[in-house]
Amino acid sequence: MTFAEMWAELLPVGRDERTGGYRRYSWTEADTACRAWFHRTSAALGMRAVCDPNGNLWSWWDAGSGPAVATGSHFDSVPDGGAFDGPLGVVSAFAAVAALREQGFRPRRPVAVAAFTEEEGARFGVACLGSRLLTGAIEPGSARRLSDSDGITLADAMSAAGLDPAAIGPDESLLARIGTYVELHVEQGSALDELGAAVGVGSAIWPHGRWRLDFTGRADHAGTTKLGDRRDPMLPFAATALAAREAAVGCGALATVGKVVAEPGGANAICSAVRAWLDARAPDEAILGRLVAQITAEATAAAAQQSVSLDITRESFSPEVSFDPELRERMSQLLGAPVLPTGAGHDAGVLASRVPAGMLFVRNPSGISHSPAEQASAADCAAGVSALAAVLADLAGQ
Ligand code: GLV
Ligand code: MN
Ligand code: MN
Repeated sequence: MTFAEMWAELLPVGRDERTGGYRRYSWTEADTACRAWFHRTSAALGMRAVCDPNGNLWSWWDAGSGPAVATGSHFDSVPDGGAFDGPLGVVSAFAAVAALREQGFRPRRPVAVAAFTEEEGARFGVACLGSRLLTGAIEPGSARRLSDSDGITLADAMSAAGLDPAAIGPDESLLARIGTYVELHVEQGSALDELGAAVGVGSAIWPHGRWRLDFTGRADHAGTTKLGDRRDPMLPFAATALAAREAAVGCGALATVGKVVAEPGGANAICSAVRAWLDARAPDEAILGRLVAQITAEATAAAAQQSVSLDITRESFSPEVSFDPELRERMSQLLGAPVLPTGAGHDAGVLASRVPAGMLFVRNPSGISHSPAEQASAADCAAGVSALAAVLADLAGQ
């Protein structure tokens, strides 16, 4: 099976016809279709597919002995995400295995292709949920209680998909079988394009996190309530969105409010509540701490000024990650590829706390991601597969 065949089969799954964006949320119909694709592709390559207790998929090339070289990424998307963020790594992993098999390569260690569940946290709010569960970075009880915007818990969603939510949590025996993890991913910026390189090697991930801000005011009539009598949660929310931007500029960091819900949402009414999600990222954890402290202080003051209450909940946090220096150097030498950091989170970053992990990035000529405008050319995807095959051969051939 070629990369193009696998890619074409997966491409329509979960794509919204109107926007051209992907809505592949974990444990939904689109996710089930992606999982079926994974099982079919694994079988076509003569590999052995299994779903681990946390819902992550693994396809094993049972060869050689010792800890495996694992590679992969995720299927799930942000709302109206691009085609490449996640799926490129899974398809490239299978294509690299297919290429090695065609070359008659005989691994001395097992090779595994992985697809982690809920990497984006788009449904249950916690990014890299599958890899966090696997490594013990999230407590299983609190993971089971996570709920989506309809109030469906992770436990309910997993049960409906036929999994046992009581079985989720750290999996030491599986972790012990992974010697190295390499994730290939579309670049989510334009550094490779600027360098004129098709493939790069990841060095580090900025620390980042997600905070939910619940502003609660009082619903009232837009035409009859005097301005001075209002408790309008929209006002401190607006002040907070602007404060986030200013604070980020002030400390060389990033802050984004990408999701906001006004309740109940009547055009001629003052809202009763505004819920907003702050995504904050910074070059180091001290700066991130200062950034979030400044934004929350300004949000608290703005809320008090309007007699609005504010609850702040940290939904997800990812510490700073430096990928394994030896692996990074080895891949960069082997491929003659540039090394670059990223502000985006990845399962490889979570796994890096437990196993040597690294990343390969494939050039994105649009420089845009988390959007249907995300791109990678066929030639660059092919370069990514060749690079990954070379890395797998190097790591599994010793
Ligand atoms: C994942 O794509 C993230 O960085 O939010
Ligand atoms: Mn993403
Ligand atoms: Mn991703």
